Amino acid sequence: MSNNELIKRREAYAKGMEKNSFSLLYAGKSLYKSKDQTFPFTTNKNFFYLTGLRREKFILLIRNAEASHFEFLFIEEPSDYATKWLGSRMTKEEASKVSGIDPSNIFYLNDFEAFVAGRILMDSRVAIAKLPENLYLDLFRQYTMTKPNSLEVFHNIIETYPELAIKDACGILDNIRRLKSDSEVLEISKAIEYTNKGIQAMMKAVKPGVNERELEALFEFSIKVAGSEGTSFNTICASGKNATILHYESNDQVIEDNTLLLTDLGALSNNYSADITRTYPANGKFTERQKQLYQLVLDVNKEIISLVKPGIFLGDLNTKANELLAEKMIKLGKIKTKEELHKYYYHSIGHYLGIDVHDVGTYKTKLEPGVIITVEPGIYVSDEGIGIRIEDDVLVTKDGHINLSSAIIKEIDEIEAFMKK
Ligand code: GLY
Ligand code: MN
Ligand code: MN
Repeated sequence: MSNNELIKRREAYAKGMEKNSFSLLYAGKSLYKSKDQTFPFTTNKNFFYLTGLRREKFILLIRNAEASHFEFLFIEEPSDYATKWLGSRMTKEEASKVSGIDPSNIFYLNDFEAFVAGRILMDSRVAIAKLPENLYLDLFRQYTMTKPNSLEVFHNIIETYPELAIKDACGILDNIRRLKSDSEVLEISKAIEYTNKGIQAMMKAVKPGVNERELEALFEFSIKVAGSEGTSFNTICASGKNATILHYESNDQVIEDNTLLLTDLGALSNNYSADITRTYPANGKFTERQKQLYQLVLDVNKEIISLVKPGIFLGDLNTKANELLAEKMIKLGKIKTKEELHKYYYHSIGHYLGIDVHDVGTYKTKLEPGVIITVEPGIYVSDEGIGIRIEDDVLVTKDGHINLSSAIIKEIDEIEAFMKK
């Protein structure tokens, strides 16, 4: 991502804030796991979106003023200990190069609170502007009725300056993040290419008797060899009946003959996600029944993709997918009325995709050129041990759409030909 693009994003964000405000965004910190172990670190996506940086504990401060805005970054101070035990810390120059923030506006975290107190929240000679009235924070809640993490991280400032009105930065950022630039579309396309490599390796390697976890490992290996930094979410590698569990992540069962394998997975490219599902036969050949159900899902997948265009709602696609699936399941004799569909299909048709797998954007906003959505119908027949989902990543364009994952095979004859040993 060029730092010019990042500079423009910060400009757009600062314009979105009410007059006389400042904003604090925290990069996050890896979560404690056990003893002296932590979970792998993932940068807060709003912080990443505005800085391009993927380092723990950094803070971005943006202060809007009459004609423009000021931006400051706080980073960890290099130390001998950190260099020897944890790897070199980023220097101010490096952080500036990635983010486009002027090196003279980059400070160490130790100075953070004194800086906020002295230059933002005090009517002093060195103050940047008059006293701000609003503080914008990322108020995303991980769970309902829990405090947003930012309130904990910045509690000292919030409690010491109760006159500040707290505002949510997410509203502004969601609007900007929703529409993808050309370079973002390119990153997601690269993530999809890596994912394709991983799926192809799995299709070639799968056979009855293999454990699901071997294929999960092969996926991760293959995307990393291709150039990806890793997976965009926990891989779902579900054979037979396991595929009827939507978020099956245990991936620890032996794959049986004559079953289908549902693989819902994605690679990252520079922190941008792919989210693809492909379903294929463990032994390389669909049974007649599997073909019947697979073709049904595939037809809906293709029909819904063909409807994607600006001006409609994701909710419209959802309604249509339900209608089509119900119609086809009635024709197949599996259900009698459309109300029964929920027994075999129990999720929605898709979501927005970006730096988050379930990216910003709602069912209540019209699709516009530049948004990327997933289209992922499925059918889950537990009593027959069959779960099928086919998921593609689709860019909305001025004239309609581009299926970014069209190169990942999904026709029955293509899959069987590819898997032939
Ligand atoms: N992989 C999660 C989803 O498809 O939404
Ligand atoms: Mn998925
Ligand atoms: Mn999805």
